[in-house]
Amino acid sequence: MTTSNDRAFNEGMSNEENPPESGPDASRPSPMNTLEQIAHLVRNCTDCPLSGGRNNAVPGEGNPQAEVMFIGEAPGFHEDRQGRPFVGPAGKLLDGLLGSIGTNREDVFIANMVKCRPPDNRDPAPAEMAACTKYLDRQIELVNPKLIVTLGRFAFGRYFPGEGITKARGQLREKDGRKIFPVLHPAAVLRREELRPTMIEDFKAISEILEGKIEDAGMEPGVTAPAAPQPAQFSFMDAPGQAAVSTAPAETSSVNVEDAPQPEQLTLF
Ligand code: URA
Ligand code: SF4
Repeated sequence: MTTSNDRAFNEGMSNEENPPESGPDASRPSPMNTLEQIAHLVRNCTDCPLSGGRNNAVPGEGNPQAEVMFIGEAPGFHEDRQGRPFVGPAGKLLDGLLGSIGTNREDVFIANMVKCRPPDNRDPAPAEMAACTKYLDRQIELVNPKLIVTLGRFAFGRYFPGEGITKARGQLREKDGRKIFPVLHPAAVLRREELRPTMIEDFKAISEILEGKIEDAGMEPGVTAPAAPQPAQFSFMDAPGQAAVSTAPAETSSVNVEDAPQPEQLTLF
């Protein structure tokens, strides 16, 4: 894993020089030469209707030289409040999962398919994702991670449209020269505790991929996680339910709890 780089944390200052603010380049479209510039553009973006409902845009953050980049779906309530990705219950679970493989959010880069919260956490619309993809495209180019981990079906669909995440998760893929590793969305795991062991296995596989122990397309049987139970269609909203890893105190009392099976507590870390 890349070591953390506090100086460059958050929008991730890059070493690249800023382009000139005036002169011949000033008339060109806004540049996206650095992660900071992207974040600035995102915060001022009105390119889709989601801009109208946001409190804060959520550009994404992390290590600008991260080896692994996580792509989620869209900001939820907490993210919209704070302007930071994965800071609600799903984020606490993500933090726990990152910790379980010896890393943390400062070492990786975390972004979303759309940068503004959809009303009532509805699914992002295709037109919204299309309008927003330019930012994520450029973030990926600049960070240039060794591995992209897609969280849930929307981020997976960016690379493999029409395929089901439940079947695809846990299998290393390649698309346009990039390694893509689809996993479930942490919010789905909060809603369905029985998915937690699968998610933990998939995260273990992330560190094995980075260590070069796993090749593409699940070539090595036995290192990919077992098939998950087939859940009903997920709606990967900022889910209610228990926060973070099983040892963490529940901090989500202000969040509505949906009807979800509550099997026995799993102590896995
Ligand atoms: N769910 C997401 O997909 N992204 C976030 O940032 C938070 C919750
Ligand atoms: Fe712009 Fe993306 Fe926000 Fe839409 S979701 S307003 S495209 S930053």
